[in-house]
Formats: sequence, structure tokens, C-alpha cells
Amino acid sequence: VPVSRIRNFSIIAHIDHGKSTLADRMLQVTKTVAQREMKEQFLDNMDLERERGITIKLQAARMNYTAKDGEEYVLNLIDTPGHVDFSYEVSRSLAACEGALLVVDSSQGVEAQTLANVYLAIENELEVIPVLNKIDLPGSEPERVASEIEEVVGLDCTDIIKASAKAGIGVDDILESIVQKVPPPEDTVDKPLRALIFDSYYDAYRGVIVYFRVMDGEVKKGDKVRLMASGKEYEIDELGVLSPNQIEIDELHAGEVGYFAAAIKTVEDARVGDTITLVQTPAEEPLPGYTEAKPMVFCGLFPTDSDQYSDLKDALEKLKLNDAALSYEPETSSAMGFGFRCGFLGLLHMEIVQERLEREYNLELITTAPSVIYRVTTTEDEVLEIDNPSLLPDPQKRTKIEEPYIKVEIITPENFVGTLMELCQTCRGEFKDMKYFTLNRTCLIYELPLAEVVTDFFDRMKSRSRGYASMEYQLIGYRENTLVKLDVLVNKDKVDALSTIVHRDKAYYVGRALTEKLKELIPRHQFKVPIQASIGAKVIASEHIPALRKDVLAKCYGGDISRKKKLLQKQAKGKKRMKAIGTVDVPQEAFMAVLKID
Ligand code: GTP
Repeated sequence: VPVSRIRNFSIIAHIDHGKSTLADRMLQVTKTVAQREMKEQFLDNMDLERERGITIKLQAARMNYTAKDGEEYVLNLIDTPGHVDFSYEVSRSLAACEGALLVVDSSQGVEAQTLANVYLAIENELEVIPVLNKIDLPGSEPERVASEIEEVVGLDCTDIIKASAKAGIGVDDILESIVQKVPPPEDTVDKPLRALIFDSYYDAYRGVIVYFRVMDGEVKKGDKVRLMASGKEYEIDELGVLSPNQIEIDELHAGEVGYFAAAIKTVEDARVGDTITLVQTPAEEPLPGYTEAKPMVFCGLFPTDSDQYSDLKDALEKLKLNDAALSYEPETSSAMGFGFRCGFLGLLHMEIVQERLEREYNLELITTAPSVIYRVTTTEDEVLEIDNPSLLPDPQKRTKIEEPYIKVEIITPENFVGTLMELCQTCRGEFKDMKYFTLNRTCLIYELPLAEVVTDFFDRMKSRSRGYASMEYQLIGYRENTLVKLDVLVNKDKVDALSTIVHRDKAYYVGRALTEKLKELIPRHQFKVPIQASIGAKVIASEHIPALRKDVLAKCYGGDISRKKKLLQKQAKGKKRMKAIGTVDVPQEAFMAVLKID
């Protein structure tokens, strides 16, 4: 196909507004995927994604569409992940497109994440086509939501497409308007090759499969290519398009989207955002916008059974092949034994990795509370980056601690503004601005320490707003604060994995609340277990867990056998996630207790 009949677009939508359903419909309508092949939600093909109903990794699909003008067009849909943790990937997939569909649930409205991505699309000079989805719902209010889009996003919504991805309404209009409104790619086939990597994944047989958009020039099977950021060179063994299954072809030209395999051993060597060029006739400059996705949130992962250490190591190595943003290094904890300190893009990324380690690799893990990277200046004027609270230098050895700050934008119906402001305040937030978009959409802007948000800020925001508020954040730099390390002693032993860094003004409160929580969470033993919180040598809060008085089974003597069995089962289940610390069994929940403090 000539470049003039190619359209590259992506879909921007808030979680659950129907992006995947719409994508599936388009694949169906264009007969890209035969009906019987159609699994529910073709584009999200990781199990975990499907289960959680969120899009994590982006993918692409090429569709052939005969438009009303009788011409056949190639429409490349480039999927984007729907979560803040992956916003860099979103920016790269948008950079590979000329247009974007903005899908908004017409029974809801514009959400923070949508807005952030629309601005990103507008910055990238994409043509944005608004679509009202779910018009089949009785609660749908297309007029209200259309005027909201006009006011908030500034898009003309006079002829906005009203659609129902579920019922198949408006899908033809959407395809037609992509052809009409999204500009074709520039025809720069004569320039030296530059192709943008917008996704990659590891395949055990072929090595890394790289998804890319040719921006300039052309690429053929057998070509020797160089990745401009990593400097690595490979020969392309397989080249093709995604329809959405991989179909091999011999060459791809400027404007086209496809994949290649070149025996690349890990996705780290073909990172999202890197530029591919030819070794023989290289481009002078890489495409703009490449950065390395850096981990922001860290936690310790320890096997409950120390025999699983090497299994955990193997599993992390394998996951890393497919996840360039994951980082890990061995960590030795006096309380927990051998494990790994792992770095993630954000909390969701962290949860996904943990879940995959447990499910796909059958590991039983204890996870410590997440931490951010603190910048600590020592008395020797050295600047250390500390991602593990237990490694914070003593107060005598440091002159200042700085912590990462983020700018948070929360969009909420007006009636929750008060409670959300209160939440931000308790999380050491600094109020910056408040904007009224419409009656139903107020935008709060705060600057907050990232450490406060990696706890359960998101869940608290959701519960305070009964699920209506949405948020988006970005890193804005480091600020100095009076922070202290809070240690926890269980049965007089300092448990390094329970240490946290808190603001001095909150230390007493957190210490008290934490010891109380731990008292609830740690089961009773045959002996009394004291629990203390301390700053340095000073104990600031203490509790104790009373000793068990009797054998639990004693109660059941004379009782029926099934009850006894049940009790034993219950105990066995409770034991599953325990870590023996000295003589005390500490459950997984205890390591997360610090997150649950209000
Ligand atoms: P992420 O993948 O998390 O970004 O979500 P998504 O935007 O892809 O949403 P998805 O397509 O998974 O749809 C979310 C829910 O809305 C599903 O239960 C769909 O069945 C439903 N849904 C999608 N489109 C429509 C629609 O037009 N009408 C109705 N009634 N429901 C819809």
C-alpha cells in the first residue's frame, strides 16, 4: 500500500471505559480476526492482564479496511497501557502514531489518566478523535460528557461519534473517521532508516521480538541493524506485521508498523524508545524522546523457605529477560536471610511482578513494605542513594536526607474535594491549585512526597471518593525533609525488614500505630512477645502479645473430629506465609502493616 493509505493510531481511554472491547470490535468488523479465533479481548493477551482487566503491555494490530471512497486502507492500531506506572511506554506508542481515539465512557466522563494521555497526544501533534462509548447504557449522558470533553480537553465535539463497543454501534463511523481525519505518515522512504521501538517481549525460541514503527527509510529481512541507544548490532532473521498474529513479510517502509526477531537475548538490549538504524547507512540522529525507564519503588523479596533462594534468583532472571524496567540485586537481611532488593516503576508494576513470581514460578515470598530512593548526604559530603530503610546511615553520620516529590492531579466530583484535601494534607501534601472543570469534575493539584503515595494512597483516595476520583502523578524532584528511621523490635530483636523512614513529626504516631497493628497480626506464641518501635536507641512505643494459655487443640477434646480437622487446616493455612524471626513466626501481613496506618 502507498503511504497515503496508511493510518497509524492508538486508543486513549481510562481503565474500563472500553478500549479493549472497542479494539476487538474493530478487529472483527475489519475481519482481521476470524470470529472463531476471537478470544475475549484479543489485545490484552497476558493472563494476568485479562484477570485484572487492565492493559499492561502494549501491542499492535494491522487491519485492512475498505473505506467509503472504495479504497483499501491499512489501519495500524497501537495499543497503550492504561496505568501511570507505564506512562513512558504510552508516550512512545503515541510517538509512533499520527492520530488517537479518545474513548470516554458516556456514563462517566473525563478522568485524570485520560487527560494526561490526551495532553501527551496533543503535544505529539496527534489528531485526536473523541468517541463517546457505552451509549447503550441507561445511565449514558452523551450531551453532558461531550460538553465536558469540549471544556476540559478543548476538542470540538459537535460531531462526536456515539458508540457502543459492546453492542457494535458506531464502529464503522470510527473506522471511517480514522481514514478521514488522521493524516497519513510522511513519505520519507528515501531517508536513512530510523524505526522507533514501542514494545518488545522475550520469546524463548526466537529471542526478543521487537515491535516498531518505521519513521524513515526501509528495512528488509537480513538487514544488519544497530540500536542507537544501546549501540548493539544484530541481523534481522524474521520480519513481519501484526495482524494481530505475526505474519512474515520481506520488507517494511516508512510509515509502516511491524515486528522483527534478531536473536536478541534480553529486552534490555532493545528498550522501548530506542531507534533502529542500518549498520551500512546509518541515520545521523536517533529519534527524540528516548529515556531509560527507571525504577522508583523498591522492596525486599524473600522466600519463606530459604531453600527457594536459588529458584527465586532463576525466576527473577527470567522475568528480567522480558521486563527491562525490573531491577534486582541480592539483599541479606539479618531477620529474613537471603533475598533480593527489587526495583519497580510503581506499585502496580511491583504487584504484577510479585504475583507472577508466585503464580508462574510457584514461589512463596515475603515482601517487605515498599520504599522510595532517598538521597542522603554524609558528613564526608558524599551523596548516597538509599533504597532500603535499614541501610540509612546513623544520624551522626549524615547531614541531610532528601526524598522524591511528585505532583499529583486528582480529578473528582466536587462533593469529595474536602475529604480528598484532608487525605493529601495527612500525607504531607502541599496544596498547589484547584480547578473547576465542570460541576462534576474538580481538579486538585498537590505536591506530595512519593513515599506517602507508594503506601495505600490510591486505595484511600478511591474509598474516600467512593471510586469516583482518579489520579495521575509525575516526579518533580528531590526535597530535603527531617526524616528519621523507625526500627521495630520483635521479642527484643531488631527486625531490619520492618524498618521504615518517616517524617519526624509523624514518627511517634506511626510507631504507636505500627506496634498496635503488629500486635494484631503476629499470632500468639507459647511465650509473651514484646513489640517495640524505636528511633535509634530510644523506644517510642511498645506493646506485647500475651502468651498462649493452652494448646488450641485442647479445646476440641471430646468435640467432633471434623471441627478439629478444620482448626488444623485453618492453622496450616495461616502458617503458609510466615517467616520465623528468631523464635517468633511473623506473617506476611506484618511486613505491610506500615502501609495500613491511617
Ligand atoms: P483497560 O484494559 O483496563 O484499559 O480497560 P478497557 O478500557 O480496555 O475496558 P474494557 O474494554 O475491558 O471494558 C470494560 C468493561 O466495560 C467491560 O466489562 C466491557 O464489557 C464493558 N464495556 C465496554 N464497552 C461497552 C459498551 O459500549 N457498553 C457497555 N454497556 N459496556 C461496555
